[in-house]
Amino acid sequence: MPRIAYVNGKYVRHGDAFVHVEDRGYQFADGVYEVIAVHGGVLVDEQGHLDRLGRSLAELAIAWPMPPKALKVVIGEMVRRNAIRDGFLYLQITRGVAPREHAFPTHAKSSCVMTARRTRPLDINEISRGVAVITIPDIRWKRCDIKAISLLPNCLGKQRAREAGAYEAWLVEAGGLITEGTSTNAWIVTAGGELVTRDTGAAILNGITRQAVMKLAGEEGIALVERPFGVDEAKAASEAFITSTTAFIRPVIRIDGVAIGGGGIGPICGRLIACYADYLFGQRAGP
Ligand code: PDD
Repeated sequence: MPRIAYVNGKYVRHGDAFVHVEDRGYQFADGVYEVIAVHGGVLVDEQGHLDRLGRSLAELAIAWPMPPKALKVVIGEMVRRNAIRDGFLYLQITRGVAPREHAFPTHAKSSCVMTARRTRPLDINEISRGVAVITIPDIRWKRCDIKAISLLPNCLGKQRAREAGAYEAWLVEAGGLITEGTSTNAWIVTAGGELVTRDTGAAILNGITRQAVMKLAGEEGIALVERPFGVDEAKAASEAFITSTTAFIRPVIRIDGVAIGGGGIGPICGRLIACYADYLFGQRAGP
């Protein structure tokens, strides 16, 4: 069965999926995106992703390419046509095709592309093994709350992590506070058992997985504080972990080579992974 992509109104073979060279996404990174997980055939937190997409579009004054309801139909169709049981749906909207001028074009129509790919089903043992992170300066722009496609600093950071043998790079702003990872949110558990993640604002993306984990922590009676934390506090933490659509929840067992907690998965992270797995397995297809 061929892999299918969606490009501006058409379902095409993945290998034939092209956009125009003067698409503003290509020329200026003038666009936004979402990555939605598919678990057991169900789109995980689809509405949350669409709500965040609406916010990103509004912040950049990019028009919806079609009403959100129609977009949902295309998303569902992409999952169906690619026969995704477990995998990810990538969706990107740009300001459209126009002669290369920095200011917004007056008549461009927003471009919309989607790709989907299958993955192996979520393996709790695999994600529970834990990952290493490094810390690097946060050199991104000042609107990281918008899920924009301009990800060059994130790509450079992830590459530095890979070259250091780490899974992720945590980004550190002037003053030593951690904002988030290059494609994940950052969490620690203090020695006092308090769960901490950076408060939302322009410095981080309000992750959909972050929001789900916050809710689960509340249901579990785990004390949670949204506040900034620094590199030293993170290295002294009893647990640390990351969250994202693609990474799910993964324990951080080393920060810049310093072992966290006992150098293995901690009890709170373990509990949250179990709860999140229950949440995913319990999700039902919407009406
Ligand atoms: N990244 N922070 C950043 C900078 C991100 O790019 C992401 C997601 C997150 C986590 O958000 P969520 O839980 O909604 O996935 C936090 C996606 C997966 C990506 O760029 O591939």
